[in-house]
Amino acid sequence: MIQTSILSRFDTFRLAVLRRSRIRDSILSRHDYQRFKIPMPDFINVAKTGDIPPGEGRTYPVEGRMIAIFFVDGEYFAIDDACPHMGASLAAGWVDDGAVTCPWHAWRFCVKDGTWLDNPKSNLKTDTYPIRIEGDDIAVAVKKQDSTPDT
Ligand code: FES
Repeated sequence: MIQTSILSRFDTFRLAVLRRSRIRDSILSRHDYQRFKIPMPDFINVAKTGDIPPGEGRTYPVEGRMIAIFFVDGEYFAIDDACPHMGASLAAGWVDDGAVTCPWHAWRFCVKDGTWLDNPKSNLKTDTYPIRIEGDDIAVAVKKQDSTPDT
């Protein structure tokens, strides 16, 4: 149940757009799930904690998407693997100081929140996904891609 009384007019409009949008699931952030009280997708085990060396990333297919998981400063972070520029694998990029540098044209993205670090005021960012560590399992929550068009 969404409590619209605390939402601004902009939020209400944005939520209406999100509800109708076919691309909704690819643009929702963890913050949106909490703010709009949308049920989180299930966590899916994708790797073991030893699979990703410190300061590196690996790519995993999850619910029809390629997800890049990075191990940075003792924490795991998940973002879309496809670079928003031309689709290179971000997991294959260089990781330094919480940023991944795309291997094709060197655009940089924050592995924590997906911000495009070359132009942080831009709306361009890569999607992020919640990560959960249980024992030595790394699980990521990615909403399944809907292949049916909206009506
Ligand atoms: S494909 Fe990533 S910067 Fe061009």
